[in-house]
Amino acid sequence: MASIIAVANLKGGVGKSTIAQNLGVSLRNSGHKVCLVDTDIEQKSTMEWGERRINRELPNIHMNLASEDRLAREISELAKSHDFVIVDGSPALSEVATKIMMVADLVVVPVMPSGNDYGALEKFLARYDDVKAMLESRGMALDLGVVLNGYNDRIIVNRAVYEAIKKLDVRIFSTEIGHRAAYQEANLVGMGVVELSDPKAANEIEKLTAEILALIK
Ligand SMILES: Nc1ncnc2c1ncn2[C@@H]1O[C@H](COP(=O)(O)OP(=O)(O)OP(=O)(O)O)[C@@H](O)[C@H]1O
Ligand SMILES: [Mg+2]
Repeated sequence: MASIIAVANLKGGVGKSTIAQNLGVSLRNSGHKVCLVDTDIEQKSTMEWGERRINRELPNIHMNLASEDRLAREISELAKSHDFVIVDGSPALSEVATKIMMVADLVVVPVMPSGNDYGALEKFLARYDDVKAMLESRGMALDLGVVLNGYNDRIIVNRAVYEAIKKLDVRIFSTEIGHRAAYQEANLVGMGVVELSDPKAANEIEKLTAEILALIK
């Protein structure tokens, strides 16, 4: 059975798809059988990213688009034939975030460190706590880690939000994902930054992947 990683946040544009795609490539590169699930049936941005990969004949990552009413069933089915199922959450207002947490082993929460994102994180964590309590009452476990995305420690508000998150009772991955053109470029060409020539970005994703693997084992 696969480990299921949900990349989710109630806020849009924080890097869910970016992190999901890059984790997918990184885990694929280290020899794992990976499936990426796009839950955003409107934008399908990760599916489109996957098509750009196919056009470039890059190492294959299995892609799947899952609609909200079949999410749990589709993810559980995909888990039978992969090592990792990575679920790219959609900008919610829907129950997608809750549903994917219910089937996940680990929730990775990208946060862009602005004031706005802190508020959305607090709301998301309240929802996570509820899902986790429900799962635990049935003998199942769930874990979570926040990853700072687009982080620049020279920007005062970035540091302030980081300090505020540290005061919450939540795991923060020690890898910070910087604001880098490589992430935008990788998305545009259907690649992961580990396949591009930006060693800083590649190093960030490799470190984050290692942290995630250490948690899941
Ligand atoms: N670390 C980064 N450095 C530079 N650009 C980034 C970074 N992370 C994300 N971006 C850019 O920010 C935009 C939003 O990122 P992304 O699409 O991954 O967010 P999302 O949370 O999936 O958004 P949505 O909620 O719309 O699905 C994209 O243009 C992406 O290329
Ligand atoms: Mg997205």
